[in-house]
Amino acid sequence: MNLNPYLNGADAEHHVQLGLAQTLCEAAGTGVDAALTREILDQLVAYSDVHFISEQLLMRLCGYPGYDDHVSDHDRLIRELEVAKQQYGGDGEQTLALPAAEAILALLAQHISMQDRRFVDFFHGWSQHAANAEPPPATRGSGGK
Ligand SMILES: [Fe+2]
Ligand SMILES: [Fe+2]
Repeated sequence: MNLNPYLNGADAEHHVQLGLAQTLCEAAGTGVDAALTREILDQLVAYSDVHFISEQLLMRLCGYPGYDDHVSDHDRLIRELEVAKQQYGGDGEQTLALPAAEAILALLAQHISMQDRRFVDFFHGWSQHAANAEPPPATRGSGGK
């Protein structure tokens, strides 16, 4: 188990993200409630948007060298999700089919297992280094002898 609160938070958010994508697949697979499928898709897009922003802030905080590459992947995922949302979400006419939902789940799972895993490993090392770093030398008072 990871004891780093930032990483625990990221893991929890990935769990929610994948859970929403999995639920989207189940809803699309039954095909009985198009409105529910659209609602889940809208939630997945909104949640992913916020998650990506918070992850990018964390990457900037620790000077992650893979930032640009990771952000490109986020941008690509958001584009894919937004296209699906415009096509199938909100008041869209079309119903999301199972293959399209599975494609979304696969993209997110791949991102989490590759890009996010790489960042988590880096962040883990960075935060341990920061915790073990020597404190800066104490400043000497200027009023003494
Ligand atoms: Fe990410
Ligand atoms: Fe992530």
